[in-house]
Amino acid sequence: MDEYKIKTIEEGLTKIEFPEFDKISSDAPVFYNPHMELNRDLSILAIQVFQKQEQREINICDLFGGSGIRGIRYKNEIDGIGTVSINDISEVANYYEQHNIELNNLEEVEVFQHDASMFLRMKRGEFDVIDIDPFGTPSPFLDSAGYCARRNSLLCVTATDTSALCGTYKEPCIRKYNAKPYKSEYCHETGIRILAGFVALTLSKYAKCIEVKMSHSTEHYMRLYIYVKKGSKRTDETLKNIGYVSHCKNCLHRQTSKGLASSVDDVCPVCGEKLIHAGPLWLGEIQDSEFIQKMIEETEYKKINTEKEALKLLNSCLIESDAPATFYDVHKICKSLKASAPKLDLIFDEIKKEGFVAVKTHYNPLGIKTDANVEDIKRIILKLCDES
Ligand SMILES: C[S@@+](CC[C@H](N)C(=O)[O-])C[C@H]1O[C@@H](n2cnc3c(N)ncnc32)[C@H](O)[C@@H]1O
Repeated sequence: MDEYKIKTIEEGLTKIEFPEFDKISSDAPVFYNPHMELNRDLSILAIQVFQKQEQREINICDLFGGSGIRGIRYKNEIDGIGTVSINDISEVANYYEQHNIELNNLEEVEVFQHDASMFLRMKRGEFDVIDIDPFGTPSPFLDSAGYCARRNSLLCVTATDTSALCGTYKEPCIRKYNAKPYKSEYCHETGIRILAGFVALTLSKYAKCIEVKMSHSTEHYMRLYIYVKKGSKRTDETLKNIGYVSHCKNCLHRQTSKGLASSVDDVCPVCGEKLIHAGPLWLGEIQDSEFIQKMIEETEYKKINTEKEALKLLNSCLIESDAPATFYDVHKICKSLKASAPKLDLIFDEIKKEGFVAVKTHYNPLGIKTDANVEDIKRIILKLCDES
């Protein structure tokens, strides 16, 4: 490995070395993406909360190790961690993973070189946390994760194929997630719900069910923290959260319907246009306020460089945790009304004055999550326009 020029970086309390590269890409000898530091910092908070809830030593699998930064940070910066297994199919990655374990003087961290699915199947039932952080889609690895996850374990899933999940291209989403996407103004939320729905349906084969504890869509990736529970009755019950979002392109009305094969309306009840359906997807909770509150509290005890950004995101996810699925984009609605947008705060105040819920969302600074319907929102915006 002498041919490489070495770069050293620090995240949290951990130092990592890897071969220097010009461009962040899967062609780098060992993959490291500095823009994913927030993802790793949030993972530290989430796994610490999980460990405290479980009140026992937990064993972690970092399934796609790269430089080893995740697994090494988990062992170095989270309390109550037993063994950490870092796996990567690349020999060069394995070399630097081992080097970085030694650089940080860590014990009980082991390196493996296997295909991810093979590795999980070899180690079935051994991990309390499985972290899936692949190039692109996690889809091909979820079946093995479902088969091998223990009851009461935590599954952390990254997807960087957001163009598929958000519906820029429909076919890749159907192929990878067996779901139809739709590129609406709230497509990042739909994408997260398609991914969560796919995880739920995949795990259900093994009588395992999911509780989504926290999820976010940031830059070009999506990340989910999911509790895995076991039991066929429980699984049947949670699968009632699988359903569809139906959207009207004409008037921007949207509605949800639970059930995998239940009937969905064909036409918009507001304007009579044909509805477009996205799904199957997860219509259950995608943010758990208690879990997120604990992640926020954990920032007090951890050294994370992205603290400001992490707290902003966590607080936003906390606020939207009880809000209904999907959100309205103020500019999109104003455009459809051919009206100029009133001040955002005024719209929120007016919606709440009428007794509806209205909260912001981390997906879009112009987004409103509300139980008011599209006609109410349009009426309120036009009223504010008249008054100004
Ligand atoms: C996105 S990188 C991981 C980044 C790392 N988790 C981090 O936070 O920096 C994906 C890694 O997966 C490895 N990989 C690709 N296909 C794999 C497979 N089928 N099984 C195991 N590892 C694989 C690559 O060598 C690469 O190091």
